Amino acid sequence: MPGLIDTHVHASQFPNNGLCLDLPLLEWLQKYTFPTERSFSDLKVARDVYSRVLDRMLRNGTTTASYFATAHLPATKVLAATVAAKGQRALVGKVNMMMNCPENYREASLEECLRETEEFIIYTKNLQSSLVMPIITPRFAVSCPEDQLRGLGDLASKYKCHVQSHLCESMPEIEFVKKLFPESRSYTHLYHATGLLTEKTIMAHCVWLDDEELRLLAKAQVGVAHCPSSNLNLFSGHCNVRRLLQHGVKVGLGTDCSGGYSPSVLDAMRRALQVSSCVAMDHPAHHALTLAEAFHLATLGGAQAVSLDDRTGNFEAGKEFDAILVDVDDTMEDKIHKFLYNGDDRNMVAVYVAGRRVSARRGGDILAPEG
Ligand code: GUN
Ligand code: FE
Repeated sequence: MPGLIDTHVHASQFPNNGLCLDLPLLEWLQKYTFPTERSFSDLKVARDVYSRVLDRMLRNGTTTASYFATAHLPATKVLAATVAAKGQRALVGKVNMMMNCPENYREASLEECLRETEEFIIYTKNLQSSLVMPIITPRFAVSCPEDQLRGLGDLASKYKCHVQSHLCESMPEIEFVKKLFPESRSYTHLYHATGLLTEKTIMAHCVWLDDEELRLLAKAQVGVAHCPSSNLNLFSGHCNVRRLLQHGVKVGLGTDCSGGYSPSVLDAMRRALQVSSCVAMDHPAHHALTLAEAFHLATLGGAQAVSLDDRTGNFEAGKEFDAILVDVDDTMEDKIHKFLYNGDDRNMVAVYVAGRRVSARRGGDILAPEG
């Protein structure tokens, strides 16, 4: 099968996976998430965690990922280098954040933010792996004043870079953004006005967009990372994916670890189906996603959402070979169904990125990747 694509995941939050899910977003960030991310000022933590994150992601069949690291430049370089060494295809972002976060975990100035972000872009381009790409990563409007958003928008245009952030995830978050930016027509218009919405932009969540915002995203060809598990865990809401698709918005799936507790895109797919059932029960006009549609979101839809569908997402001639080799019993059609609903890393016999085997197992043993 085509490799799985995680369009939104925080590599630095893996230590919290399965923990700390008792608070809504804004409180959860302050109490649990910022302190964990802050520990990446220690490069030993970064090397240890990021190496295990990559092994875990690859073992679960995620051949492409869009990562948030932390606000630290050195640790974010470690993530990019680890991705290159392990052979995953990935977008890697140094998180930009200057306000509404702890004194001891934020960028010190706009000048530092832009200088370090530019240095990271150049570092990534010099890694000599076409599989690793930089992505400009303003955390969300709550943590970025307008001049910071604009400066990052300018960098995106200078380097023709990918951009990622969070948008309309929860109602309290949206209210906070309204208070911070009273002049802005909407949360989405704020990102648009600062140059952050391009066809290489991925916005996570988008649970609560109004119709005008939705049209703006579609027109700008922005991709949406649908993160159903996180949206349930952090009490954010049920995203209506059918509505996004009907407006012509590109949609992929995100695990959003550690808002989501599972790094498996298969799990995100199942959660997306369940959330879609809930939405369909409330909106009879919006029929629920099918398993085939959810599988599309997990593969080609994800590739489109992160603007890498020229290289990956399916087995079309001319694309690179990103694949998972899956072992299940049963007949062919049942095989696919059962794997998509009940399979996990134990069924992944081998995982390939750009034709190179990056993870494999025989019996209970994980084999070393090919050179
Ligand atoms: N919004 C801003 N930062 C975050 C984060 O780390 N996780 C989630 N789910 N939403 C965010
Ligand atoms: Fe997130």
